[in-house]
Amino acid sequence: MSVTRTAVPRRLLMCRPAHYEVSYSINPWMHPEKPVDTGLAMLQWERLRRLYESLGHTVEVIDPLPGQPDMVFAANGATVVDGKVLGARFRHVERTAEGPAYLAWFARQGYREILWPEYINEGEGDYLLVGRRILAGTGFRTDPRSHQEAQEFFGLPVTSLTLVDPHYYHLDTALAVLSDTEIMYCPAAFTPGSRAVLREMFPDAILASEEDAAVFGLNAFSDGLNVFLPEVAEGLIAELSARGFNPIGVDLTELLKAGGSVKCCTLELRS
Ligand code: ARG
Repeated sequence: MSVTRTAVPRRLLMCRPAHYEVSYSINPWMHPEKPVDTGLAMLQWERLRRLYESLGHTVEVIDPLPGQPDMVFAANGATVVDGKVLGARFRHVERTAEGPAYLAWFARQGYREILWPEYINEGEGDYLLVGRRILAGTGFRTDPRSHQEAQEFFGLPVTSLTLVDPHYYHLDTALAVLSDTEIMYCPAAFTPGSRAVLREMFPDAILASEEDAAVFGLNAFSDGLNVFLPEVAEGLIAELSARGFNPIGVDLTELLKAGGSVKCCTLELRS
């Protein structure tokens, strides 16, 4: 059976890594003693942005705040569905200033339904929309009580998934949405119960090897046809091609030093 896949143009929010550096460590990938090349990070980021635009996507850009070196990871800035904006409230004090900065951007853009959340949540780092359902991560960053808050706010079913490996501290490091019905994920990143839930909901999902997960192969963005992911995730790239997707390898090695890649840099603006 062959599937015809089509790319749906998206509106994306990104944040230039102008103040990017690794000056603290809030996940196991971050080593402040190792040098980071901010110029190279800018170049790699700029290439990703142009790649999105060349394939028909619209990229909006928010200005990064000085002193917020992680503010390149726009996915963490909010969750936007049906024009409703659930603000992000960060777990670590190093990033707390980002939450209000993103919400101010949404307010300036004219978004009306904006919620400053009661509970900690790190935006699309832990909230991923699959069709009309939300998969929600917890275990390291997002408070599980936020999942109920998100369900009430969006009026969409939210499924809680618990992460167990600190290397995969956000859901979007362990699971990627490919289409309205398809995902890929790394089972080892989840509790046995969450693994069983994923098997139940997505019996045909692509399962990532730990090797591909470790190069952030699951930190991918899909427009329904093109799947943007780290170019070194060879197993996933082969499997995506076999299933009729068009995988596009991206080099974001400088950003990996902060524990982020393609999806982390990309927040989807759903109207
Ligand atoms: N250094 C950042 C942090 O630990 C990386 C965030 C990556 N973003 C993501 N959506 N997974 O918070």
